[in-house]
Amino acid sequence: MANGDSRALVNLDLIRWHLIASATFMMVSMLGGLAYAFQFNQLYPFPSIEWLSPGRVRMVHTNMAAYGFIANAFIAGLLFAIPRLTKKPIFSDQLGWMIFGAWQLTMVLTVIGQLAGYGQAIEWGETPSFVDPLVLVGLVLLVINMSVPIFRTEEPGLYVSLWYFLAAFGWTGLVYFMGNFLPEYWVPGTAGAAITGLFIHDLVGLFVTPIGWGLMYFFVPLLLRKPIWSHALSLIGFWGLAFFYPMQGVHHFLLSPIPMYAQYGAIVATIAVEIVVLTVIVNFFGTLHGRSEAIRGNLALRWFYTGMILYALTCLQCAFQVTLTFQKIIHFTDWVVAHAHMVMFGVFGFWIYGFFIEVWPRVVGRPWVSPRLLTLHYWMTMSALALMIVDLTAGGLVQGFLWRGLNHWGDSVIASMPFWWVRTLSGLIIISAQGLFIYALWATARQPSTEMTEAPVGASPATAGVGV
Ligand code: HEM
Repeated sequence: MANGDSRALVNLDLIRWHLIASATFMMVSMLGGLAYAFQFNQLYPFPSIEWLSPGRVRMVHTNMAAYGFIANAFIAGLLFAIPRLTKKPIFSDQLGWMIFGAWQLTMVLTVIGQLAGYGQAIEWGETPSFVDPLVLVGLVLLVINMSVPIFRTEEPGLYVSLWYFLAAFGWTGLVYFMGNFLPEYWVPGTAGAAITGLFIHDLVGLFVTPIGWGLMYFFVPLLLRKPIWSHALSLIGFWGLAFFYPMQGVHHFLLSPIPMYAQYGAIVATIAVEIVVLTVIVNFFGTLHGRSEAIRGNLALRWFYTGMILYALTCLQCAFQVTLTFQKIIHFTDWVVAHAHMVMFGVFGFWIYGFFIEVWPRVVGRPWVSPRLLTLHYWMTMSALALMIVDLTAGGLVQGFLWRGLNHWGDSVIASMPFWWVRTLSGLIIISAQGLFIYALWATARQPSTEMTEAPVGASPATAGVGV
């Protein structure tokens, strides 16, 4: 209970439904990705059906990954973490349900609009124009619902997760407005392209990244039952992100007509952001020190740390691939697609699986039906994604060097064929693994009930381990 009223501190039903929506849109996204992958094998499953044409299905794939799968799971994460950190419930449960309904309606309208040919020509801003205002209103309401407990908290100090969440709340609406309205209505041409680049990057850097790391700072100390290694380092990481991330956007359009000073600025900021990477990696592996056996015994922690290793690799890769030397080879190749999957799926998707592992039993009030199935899901997903990344990175290099050698375009397509087949194979393994995972979620929820709703994730990560 909170504040003497009869509301539960954490609204488990709302979390459960956001998780169900997340898993559903994950499957929609992946089926779209797989269908599109078959296009590269000249075996597209829906030839000559206009509304299922590959370009439209690609938009459904990326948009449902970001807004359907990741955003829904992150909202569930915020609903779980914020009341526990602040000891205050969200502003209003009714508003929470309204946001839930509005968000899913937005997803359905996005899919219908994109398949009907109303996608906007802005990468990741393809949500049709008539959906954009709805998204913006939804985001504002979400921010109100989640910020109120943070402002009302009587806890001493503000734990670093809450810093990250507040930053994401401040930025996300602005980022969405900037990307979806400015280039379309007010800023055409290369300036509009620069803004689009900023939007793509800020969506990852100022929405997904702060919420993702905020959740890691919440869950990892609790699961390891010890406080985070260095609170000071966590704050340096936070301010590094706040300072360097917003300037990186133009690195999506290097070697373009955007003025070179803007391109060089983005390159420097991208390399500088390694400071943030270093802080989080040192901090989380410092926290793990002496407890590394926990990775073997706790699957949620294993997902979290696998994601962190991939985060370190992705960001290290960023520092190199952002240089014009690398760009001359990898620009427009499958290297970039490998990179996108490594960060969006390998980092944030993997953290979401860890979150599911920890939270799903609580929200359905039943223990996992088969831990073995979950371990199989981990190994299948992890190894198939590793295969996809290595495959597309190698394929990207082959494409890049063939283009640089001024070979015929058709030759590069023929040379890419084996890589595209391996991508399809890895996609098939990933989808099969998610089929097992969805079965595990369903079978767990259907078991006879046991009393286990609210334990054992503890009080506050700042004090976790104290006295344990
Ligand atoms: C079954 C698994 C998956 C398959 C087969 C797959 C396949 C694909 C394909 C074929 C593309 C288009 C590449 C191109 O245009 O050349 C793509 C793009 C993309 N996918 Fe996936 N995908 C899968 C899972 C995911 C997941 C889970 C996420 C995120 C959580 C994701 C995020 C992305 C992103 C961000 C892009 C855009 C890449 C870019 O434009 O550089 N994918 N995917």
